[in-house]
Amino acid sequence: MRVTTGEIREMKQRGEKIPMLTAYDYSTAKLIDEAGVPLILVGDSLGMVVLGYESTIPVTMDEMIHHTKAVVRGTKHALVIGDMPFMTYHISIDDALRNAARFIQEGGAQAVKLEGGESVAEKVRRLVECGIPVQGHIGLTPQSVHQLGGYKVVGKTPEAAVRLLNDAKALEEAGAFSIVLELVPAPLSRLITQRVAVPTIGIGAGPDCDGQVQVVSDLLGLFTDFVPKHAKQYARLCDTIKAAVADYIGEVKAGSFPTSKQSHTMDESIIAELARSS
Ligand code: KIV
Repeated sequence: MRVTTGEIREMKQRGEKIPMLTAYDYSTAKLIDEAGVPLILVGDSLGMVVLGYESTIPVTMDEMIHHTKAVVRGTKHALVIGDMPFMTYHISIDDALRNAARFIQEGGAQAVKLEGGESVAEKVRRLVECGIPVQGHIGLTPQSVHQLGGYKVVGKTPEAAVRLLNDAKALEEAGAFSIVLELVPAPLSRLITQRVAVPTIGIGAGPDCDGQVQVVSDLLGLFTDFVPKHAKQYARLCDTIKAAVADYIGEVKAGSFPTSKQSHTMDESIIAELARSS
């Protein structure tokens, strides 16, 4: 049985911290799921860490659906959230509904995430009314990087802090089942977490959120273009991969790979006959 949004809310009520990770492909999703992560986000960070774009802005619905299907196929337990790309929920409520429905119907996700607070609350409400669970995302919203003028901490001034608290309340009121807080000062995250009943999931938002989310490629040390301050590398698979590939190259060049262990045999007399007759 998959984790439900109700169980995620209950984790907050019990004071149990909620780990969340991104995933973009079948194999990684399967490992993460088997390790017991309850929430998996097919993030539009896909654009940067898998597809090599400079930001999340070029990511399309078709790319997201393709990867969401793979993640869903790899998981049995986690609740899978599809991240709605830039401009797929801004133009109209109908557009938001149509694209969110694709994540659920075609992608097989159990929920969607979208960026924004009060400005998207009506859309969140409509999706929830139609039976689509929604995760909110406030603070640094990377799809608005050009408007925000960079990937910066949000909420440091009194006005910005009030705006963020109101955004969180608007999302809760609209029916979001959880809210990602990205690059929010720790004391403000703590206050927001106290003031809303739905779980907050932080990334660069301090230790007092109800849960934490990390980009899996940062956590495993797979993405090496840059390492965000809020990321912790629990492994450095970049080094492991490079060392393994260097070994492979060396063995192929030396003729020591493959050995008989990796080879298939057959009746040698057939080959002897073939060699004689050809
Ligand atoms: O796309 C993503 O990976 C995200 C997380 C950072 C929350 O939105």
